[in-house]
Amino acid sequence: MDKFVVRGGNPLLGTIKVSGAKNSALPCMAAAILTEDEVILENIPQVRDIETERKLLTSMGAEVELGYGRAQHRTHIKCAILSDPVAKYEIVKTMRASSLVLGPLIARTGIARVAMPGGCAIGGRPIDLHIKGLEAMGATIVYDHGYLEARADRLKGAHIVFDKITVTGTEDLLMAATLAEGESVFENCAREPEVTDLAALLTAMGAKIEGAGTSTIRIQGVSKLHGARHRINPDRIEAGTFLIAGAITGGDLNVDSCEPKHLGALIAKLEECGVRLDVGQDNIRVRSGGSMGGELKAANISTEEYPGFPTDMQAQFMALATQTEGTTTVTENIFENRFMHVQELIRMGANITISGRTATVRGKSPLQSAAVMCSDLRASASLVLAALVADGETILDRVYHLDRGYEHFEEKLRGVGAQIRRMGDVFGKK
Ligand code: EPZ
Repeated sequence: MDKFVVRGGNPLLGTIKVSGAKNSALPCMAAAILTEDEVILENIPQVRDIETERKLLTSMGAEVELGYGRAQHRTHIKCAILSDPVAKYEIVKTMRASSLVLGPLIARTGIARVAMPGGCAIGGRPIDLHIKGLEAMGATIVYDHGYLEARADRLKGAHIVFDKITVTGTEDLLMAATLAEGESVFENCAREPEVTDLAALLTAMGAKIEGAGTSTIRIQGVSKLHGARHRINPDRIEAGTFLIAGAITGGDLNVDSCEPKHLGALIAKLEECGVRLDVGQDNIRVRSGGSMGGELKAANISTEEYPGFPTDMQAQFMALATQTEGTTTVTENIFENRFMHVQELIRMGANITISGRTATVRGKSPLQSAAVMCSDLRASASLVLAALVADGETILDRVYHLDRGYEHFEEKLRGVGAQIRRMGDVFGKK
């Protein structure tokens, strides 16, 4: 099991570079299923979930060449022949986002067998809305020994109003609709930048899409899509994580190659805490403490779909909240079990209580180093942030969770002065 050893106390100083967004790369890689031509994607991050997606696509017959280390991280994907349109359980159980191949597979081949994703650390995370949408588009769905099998000669455009706002549900059905017969109108769609990024790729492939990034998306189905080249957005959650790292350590950090317009809710909240932010075109400089460099003050958050405060930043913000003066309420409205970082933060000396969907953080609490356990991707990031300001050496276990979504995390942090190193075998290096 990989571990991190982090010695707290160093302010982060200098420039830290943001990688491509994992949650854009995953649907964009799945979109390559929709054409027999080659799709070229730039700025793909070197994280475990991308490797899992590569395995998934190649297991179905695709040729995938991940472009790490090459200029622009250029990845080539070609789904000329999909000899085995099955998303096998051994892969799906390691990454729920595998369900993103469902829509493209049935649109391209008329059949898809996808292992039903099991539960997940942060919540049940069903895909009932993906399924309901595909049925509305004419697919027949049967369940067979833990697999979902969807069939359709050709999907038909449909008018769908999502019961709940779902990011990958919107993405899955958007991809399916591009090759459906006729027009589709989807309402109550997710407005996340990752949806807009996917729509930009699909449009470059010849899809006819209007309204991506708003809650109503209109798609005119076409008979075929062609190859394209597309650059993936910067990762707004990685950027947000680094902004908090600069704030919590009292540093002066330039978060470079990010997209500030995707970070509006977090920027507003950090400024409410008294964090100083200088927002540039594609970078944000973060300095802790108010204009007089004073203490940070508490500010409440409540997670919402984009453009509200992102659930994927909730755990990281809670670590910061332990270092602000006053009482912070953190309400998690998207997932039913996304407070697993709380017990670990309490073990480091934080003062947090939970009632239903709301955690109450009383600060400022000096944090102590401890041996802690990572439970999911963003909880892991939260514990690293706490360890950066704890006295002494914190040992974080099961950091493979973090490797799923943060590229070269410890190297990037070390590059701006953090005392962090990995123990055990190292992901991504031969
Ligand atoms: C995406 O997950 C992200 N993953 C998540 O990021 C992110 O936390 C989440 O959106 C919310 O922003 C990817 O994009 C790969 P949802 P997704 O469908 O699409 C319920 C990370 O840290 N729901 O928007 O799976 C669901 O249970 C990950 O990078 C249904 O009930 O999330 C949840 O309560 C974690 N039925 C809510 O909707 C459905 O069919 C929002 O889920 C689908 C979803």
